[in-house]
Order: sequence, then C-alpha cells, then structure tokens
Amino acid sequence: MYSRIIGTGSYLPEKILTNHDLEQTVDTNDEWIRSRTGITQRHIAASDQSASDLAFNASQKALEMAKINADEIDLIIVATTTPDMLFPSTACILQEKLGISGCPAFDVQAVCSGFVYALATADMFIRAGKYRNALVVGSEIYSNIVDWSDRTTCVLFGDGAGAVVLSQSEQPGILSSHLHANGSYSKVLSVPGKICDGVIQGNPYINMEGNTVFKFAVKVLAEVAHEAIAENNLQPSDIDWLIPHQANIRIIRSTAKKLGLPMEKVVTTVEKHGNTSAASVPLALDIAVRDGRIKPDQYVLLEGVGGGFTWGAALLRW
Ligand code: UT7
Repeated sequence: MYSRIIGTGSYLPEKILTNHDLEQTVDTNDEWIRSRTGITQRHIAASDQSASDLAFNASQKALEMAKINADEIDLIIVATTTPDMLFPSTACILQEKLGISGCPAFDVQAVCSGFVYALATADMFIRAGKYRNALVVGSEIYSNIVDWSDRTTCVLFGDGAGAVVLSQSEQPGILSSHLHANGSYSKVLSVPGKICDGVIQGNPYINMEGNTVFKFAVKVLAEVAHEAIAENNLQPSDIDWLIPHQANIRIIRSTAKKLGLPMEKVVTTVEKHGNTSAASVPLALDIAVRDGRIKPDQYVLLEGVGGGFTWGAALLRW
C-alpha cells in the first residue's frame, strides 16, 4: 500500500507588493532584495482573508484536479504557522468551509517544513490503511506576523496556499519521507510573543538571525536530500525535479550545487512569491504540475527547512 498525489492546487491573494513598493516604506532597494534573495514581488492577503480562506481556494483546485468530491476526503492536515486563531485548528475551519464533517482534521506546526511534515504524516496514515483520501495543505499569511518597519525581515515573506489530494495507491507515489528537528536552534528563528491574561507578552513579530538560518538551511537541505536519495538506491542525477522550500534563491542554488543538480531541474517560485513558509513547496509543486514540467514516472524531491529548526524531505515517483 502506498500513497500518491492525485491532485494539486494553489492560491495566491490578488494584491502584489513589489520591491519598489517596499522602497517607499523602508530603507531598502530593489537591487539589494533581488541580489540577496532573488525576490522581486510577493502576494499579500486582504485584511478579511484568513489562512483557512487561502487553504479553501487551493483545496478546491486540488479536488477538481483529483476529480473527487470533498465528501470523499477522510483526513485533513493543514500546515500553518499563521492559523486563523489559537484554536480551533485551521484544519477544522477548513473542513467546515468544505461542507464536510466527521473526518479527522488537525494542524501541523513545523514552520517552513510544515508541508513536508504534513505530507509525511498523511502518507503514514494512508500506508497503514487507515484513510483513503487525505487533503494536505500549506497555508500562510506571514504579512500578519511581519514587522513592516523591519527591513531585515519584511522584504522576505509573502502569503499564499498550496494543497494536494493524497490517495491510496498500489503504485508509489511517495517513496520515502525523512523528518528532522533540532530544538536547540529555537531562538534563531522565532515569533517569541505569546498571549497571557489577554495581553501579548514579548515580540509578536518574526525574529531571525538571517546568516545562521542561511548556513543551516544550505547544510541540512543537502544532507536530507542525500538521505532520501540513498534510501531509495538512487543517485542525485536520477532526480528529475527538486522542489525545495522557497526562502532565498542563493540557498536554493547552493543546495542544487551541493547535489550536482543543474538549476534547470529545480522549480523556483521565490522570485514571484517570496517566502510563503509552509505554502512554498505545495505552491511550487502545483505550478510545475500545471505547466507540464512534472511528467508521469519522474522522480520529484520535495524539501523543507524552517523554524525549530525543522527540516525534511519526501521523495516521490510522479
Ligand atoms: O524560511 C526560512 C527562513 N528564512 C530564511 O531562510 C532566510 C535565510 N537568510 C537569508 O536569506 C539571508 O541571510 C538574508 C536575505 C536574510 C540576509 O542576507 P545576507 O546576505 O545574510 O545579509 P546580512 O544580514 O549580512 O546583511 C548585510 C547588510 C547589512 O548591512 P551592514 O550591517 O553590512 O551595513 C544589513 O543591515 O544588508 C543590510 N540589510 C539591508 N539593506 C537593504 C538587511 N536587510 C536589508 C534590506 N535592504 N532589506
């Protein structure tokens, strides 16, 4: 028994914020942002949109491609760091928006690795024969947790959602998944604020040691890719498409170089989306599926890295 992705979908909010727009509000410039990160623009959710709204739009498209109805979904997992509210989970709110009830629904919190964590979790349930069709979503509204006066972080992030329908299959599908975490890095990338007695205590915005995150990301993205490739007795050259977390084009290029993969085999969306955290991998996957780059039987390697630190990979036969 395996699990296989039978539908993908994504959603980006209408509003686009360019580097030139940011030049008007903080001491930055398009040249710095593009040369240090590869980002030229990002999408920003409307004030009345929440993570479950973005997730709903992406999910509908994934269900359409999968040619199944929402009531055939028997597991919902949403990866998000920017949930609609503290509780209930964004997955439960999404379930209600989909007009279904009864199946388990929960959020996974692994920051930018969230989608890979959620996909691996759904894969385990399906392989165990417990569920048939899982809806796995990454959805984020980072514009809510960015300090728009901090040029070191506000230029990096964007909003969006990506979704997949993962179904039982006799053919793989997901060949293997590999998850890791190291909590001793928890302070290097965090939103340390918390609600206590009705008041926010501590900083409610993203706090990041950019250089440390950069070096760690390059190291572990290469390591976990090698781990997935070796487990399946493959060589890096066998990988048809690498879809890494989209945080910085320099991190992506360094990872590809370490794996000996040409950039032609790497899907990148960071230029147009910025870093959408748990949404970045399913967004990039959907774009490469819909434009026909990803073809049947190809090997696709998904990778995430983010706060925690957390990191992981899933190797797929498409
Ligand atoms: O999803 C996972 C989470 N995040 C990441 O993966 C991000 C990982 N880190 C990075 O992508 C990079 O470290 C950054 C893009 C955040 C920063 O790039 P960097 O090459 O590491 O730059 P830096 O932090 O060393 O800063 C270089 C200079 C500094 O000025 P001084 O001290 O050299 O005078 C910064 O103050 O650039 C300055 N700077 C800016 N200048 C213009 C920082 N942000 C900006 C900005 N515009 N937006």
